[in-house]
Amino acid sequence: MIETSAGPRILEVSLGERSYPIHIGPGLLGEPDALTPWLAGRQVMVVTNEVVAPLYLQRCRASLPADAEVRELVLPDGEATKTLESVSRIWDALLEAGFNRRCTLIALGGGVIGDMVGFAAACYQRGVAFIQVPTTLLSQVDSSVGGKTGVNHPLGKNMIGAFWQPRAVLIDTDTLVSLPPRELSAGLAEVIKYGLIRDAAFLDWLEGAMADLRALEPAALIQAIECSCALKAQIVAEDETEQGVRALLNLGHTFGHAIEAHQGYGKWLHGEAVGAGMLMAAELSARLGWLDEAAVSRVRDILAAAALPLAAPADMSVGDFLVRMRLDKKNIDSRLRLILLRELGDACLSDETPPELLEALIEAFPRG
Ligand code: NAD
Ligand code: GLY
Repeated sequence: MIETSAGPRILEVSLGERSYPIHIGPGLLGEPDALTPWLAGRQVMVVTNEVVAPLYLQRCRASLPADAEVRELVLPDGEATKTLESVSRIWDALLEAGFNRRCTLIALGGGVIGDMVGFAAACYQRGVAFIQVPTTLLSQVDSSVGGKTGVNHPLGKNMIGAFWQPRAVLIDTDTLVSLPPRELSAGLAEVIKYGLIRDAAFLDWLEGAMADLRALEPAALIQAIECSCALKAQIVAEDETEQGVRALLNLGHTFGHAIEAHQGYGKWLHGEAVGAGMLMAAELSARLGWLDEAAVSRVRDILAAAALPLAAPADMSVGDFLVRMRLDKKNIDSRLRLILLRELGDACLSDETPPELLEALIEAFPRG
């Protein structure tokens, strides 16, 4: 599994006629015509934000054909802007430009931009092409792959959205050099997630590679991104619309979304909340007798090595968690469904956690 080269890789998300490639490598953005093969026509709108535009918009434009009719839309930054109002701004810009059904949207940025642009593409004229150009580690290993698009609602995270697959995902690992360390750690949470849910050997490798990953060592980085994308592509190909196995990708998310929504979107990063949530899920799995203390310690240690929080917000009560967790999209009727760990590398979806066990776990979990 471990390759030592930092050379480019290509994977595929196999979804029949909606299959698409994931290109991973250094310096991909800015290569002439790097984005050209996946354009539906010549009308192109690059949507990005105020942080990413000065860093990468020019390189993105350089990867488009000279004869394309290119428009740019630069939105404000941040999770708090992942709203229907922002998506409406994209639709306004498309209509004002007179763009038709053969236009292509390019999502240049992190998961917030990717989720919003994908949703805008899903609805514009009942669906147009879009390409993901993710620039955070989290978006490179998770949100750009698999076609989940949407926005937040004040009452819950990602509550409004659609499944809409991109035409391609172009991951330029060089973009990570400008990423703040806290954002890098947030992305590492999702990388660790893949090891925990599906691949114990990858988890072993990650334990040894964490220092290199935090130092952006190129070969380690490409390996972690490729392995994460391959696992995600496999799961999405098996279960595109989350009728079963795809739900496992939500390890830690039920707790994490509760933290994000309670704190106000953007205060805790999504990956940070997922990191704390995965530790909560591991501890709950131990209370159910599935994981032993050594396994929970490994989870705690790898999250610590990735500089992720090991405690929940100081001001969150058991009730605060439960109110938000009951809104989770995985729940069916009134049954709370959680992703838990049978062992490291083997997750399952369970609706059988006794409520008193869950409440005791939340009560006992450290606050920071
Ligand atoms: P983000 O998009 O807010 O990006 C994090 C920050 O980094 C932002 O300030 C952004 O402007 C900045 N940034 C982006 N690229 C940069 C770069 N190369 N250099 C410097 N700064 C850069 O957050 P995120 O962590 O990328 O994504 C989180 C979002 O993704 C959440 O809304 C979450 O719900 C969503 N998500 C979606 C899926 C999915 O399957 N669709 C999966 C996981 C997460
Ligand atoms: N991030 C969860 C999913 O794509 O299903």
